Amino acid sequence: MIRITKSEKLPPVQYTPNPLFGTVFAPHVLRMDLTLDGGPAEFEARIMLLTDEPFPCTSSVLHYGQSVFEGMKAYKQKDGGVAIFRADLHAKRFRNSAKRMVLREIPEEIFLQCLKEYTAFVADNVPGEPDHSLYLRPLLMAADRKIKVGAAKKNIFYIMSSIAGGYFGKKGERARVMVCRDFVRAFPNGLGEVKTAANYAASIWPQRLAAQKECNQVLFLDAVEHEYIDELGGMNFFAIRGKDLVTPALNGCILNGVTRRSLLDLAPSMGLNPVETRMSFSELRADIEHGRITEVFACGTAAIVSPIGEIYYQEKLDSHGDLLRLPPESKVAMAIYEKLGKIQRGYESAPGNWLLKV
Ligand SMILES: Cc1ncc(COP(=O)(O)O)c(C=O)c1O
Repeated sequence: MIRITKSEKLPPVQYTPNPLFGTVFAPHVLRMDLTLDGGPAEFEARIMLLTDEPFPCTSSVLHYGQSVFEGMKAYKQKDGGVAIFRADLHAKRFRNSAKRMVLREIPEEIFLQCLKEYTAFVADNVPGEPDHSLYLRPLLMAADRKIKVGAAKKNIFYIMSSIAGGYFGKKGERARVMVCRDFVRAFPNGLGEVKTAANYAASIWPQRLAAQKECNQVLFLDAVEHEYIDELGGMNFFAIRGKDLVTPALNGCILNGVTRRSLLDLAPSMGLNPVETRMSFSELRADIEHGRITEVFACGTAAIVSPIGEIYYQEKLDSHGDLLRLPPESKVAMAIYEKLGKIQRGYESAPGNWLLKV
């Protein structure tokens, strides 16, 4: 147990439905100051006004990117309450990420207590509109005021939150993604499976080039053979091949997505066979062209389940591009989307204990 002190409470943030993702924040943030090698006596947090948070430009995290984060959602429940989806898996992944980035490993029970108390404090910000939720963003970062690379002694843990509606646009709107063998996001023994700032920094340039081709996201291939599908910049990748629900196997270069795990767990109850395997992009193209693969989609906490309608493909950055079109309907992806949404909001029960009530 830790002690969490709380500031005055402000009224919930005002927003118009479907705000731009990650821009409308609940007015409070949780902050806990830690040291890398400290003990349990240190665990003391406060919930304060977001506007009171100082941000010194000499902080080492700004220069060297030593930070890890999580992204999860709190949903309004059928019974009027609020619950967080699979918080335990996020707590575990956060701790693993911290270990790899030489940041203080916060015990899962401490992480979960902070999360629960913070979410309860801001619960009147959890939106009630269909397909909306409160996106929770825990962040742990190096906080030494020092411009020299190395493991920081001081760390700060935060939890902040923002109103989430659709990620790509309207529900069911199909995304267009770009594949180019020149793009690299993560490589073996690197940081690919760690939820750390560096991975996202590496994806910004490819993402910008993709946007110039009117693509919403980049689908990254592996960094060694430039052939096997890893994941998208902020989502995992799935394909429907007959009754198979196929996704790239975890390989150290992709994030062990909580949504990915949940879909694999749910597959049998939907008559689907979960398959985790190495997925060749050339084979995927042939399978789409010959109708063996009928749907592909992205999934993640933010994007939920987002059907992909088109894959824009370039062998090299300066080569001619080809467009691969998927069949016009994404029935299986949308059925998965609906089922997941019902579980997340307490309308259907999950195979395990997936909801943390706050
Ligand atoms: C790189 C990357 N892959 C996959 C995912 C999906 O993971 P999750 O389902 O845990 O949100 C995310 C989102 O957090 C991500 O940033």
